[in-house]
Amino acid sequence: MRTTRSTIRTRLRLAGAFATVLMAAGVVTGPAAQAGEERHVKQPTLAELAQRHGRYFGSATDNPELTDRPYTEILGREFDQITPGNGMKWYATEPEQGVFDFSKGDEIVNFARAHHQKVRGHTLVWHSQLPDWLTGREWTASELRAVLKKHIQTEVRHYRGKVFAWDVVNEAFNEDGTYRETIFYRTLGPGYIADSLRWAHEADPRVKLYLNDYNIEAVGPKSDAYHRLAKELRAQGVPLHGIGMQAHLALQYGYPDTLEDNLRRFSRLGLDTALTEVDIRMELPADEAKLATQAEWYRDVTEACLAVRRCVGVTIWDYTDKYSWIPAFFEGEGAALPWDEELRRKPAYYAIREALIRR
Ligand code: XIL
Repeated sequence: MRTTRSTIRTRLRLAGAFATVLMAAGVVTGPAAQAGEERHVKQPTLAELAQRHGRYFGSATDNPELTDRPYTEILGREFDQITPGNGMKWYATEPEQGVFDFSKGDEIVNFARAHHQKVRGHTLVWHSQLPDWLTGREWTASELRAVLKKHIQTEVRHYRGKVFAWDVVNEAFNEDGTYRETIFYRTLGPGYIADSLRWAHEADPRVKLYLNDYNIEAVGPKSDAYHRLAKELRAQGVPLHGIGMQAHLALQYGYPDTLEDNLRRFSRLGLDTALTEVDIRMELPADEAKLATQAEWYRDVTEACLAVRRCVGVTIWDYTDKYSWIPAFFEGEGAALPWDEELRRKPAYYAIREALIRR
């Protein structure tokens, strides 16, 4: 075949287009491509890739880390949603009864605004990380109701228009699906959940209100309890808009195979769902095989959310092993996040990209 100028042009154009596709898909390797990738080719971020599906891809962060420039550079660029890891919790926001301090949460909201990221409010009602003034004495039901209502409404009002969703009640159930015996449950009974949702809604009628918990990714007694409660609350007209599945997974306990079905059954109740605190820990030391399995799990979790229309997005519980909560809370475990302690991307990062590109 004769090769004319125009066929050469066409071939070059096609080759160029093909290369662009490969680059965008992150499959171009080799020294030239890698150098090009670093110097010239702007790879789409996880946020940009998620947005193509109408989803967000987020990370938790915490105030002390915001002085780490290489860290904040990636945090600001790669994600379009932020959750404060601690800054909006009760101990931080109402350290003395009736004295509110929103400086920590505000700092994170300001970071998010500067980087066009939406913020998930976390969390209003939880048995953990409560201030001493609250846990250190007995309360009558009517006293505690007033304290709870004031806390919720002051915080929700403060962040009105600044957060798109609230984890209103966090970790309300035990593994067997019975109510957790918290200060709120013991003093107020199960109705504290509906009341909290109503008070939050009154303070910001536009914000999405969630119940959030761990070990509810698979279908089982604990997620059944949420399904039952959510159905009841919706039937009673209580303002509940979504269920947050934390997804603190661990390689040694197996992958929650029913995640997608589980997300779907909450969608059918007319609820949004979100994967709110994803990390996938392993027994240390990490090795290539564990990191490969972890990558597969990150891919599967991301794909599960993309497969279910009302799953609105994925948040990882910080993005780097440098700031993961796991080593401090689970002895001998760690390496749970898609970036390592030196802020280098791990196989998990590439697996998330692949899921976001392919689906
Ligand atoms: C963790 C934070 O990441 C830690 O910094 C803190 O010391 C303890 O809490 N489920 C939740 C989160 O809902 O609020 C927890 O965050 C992790 C488990």
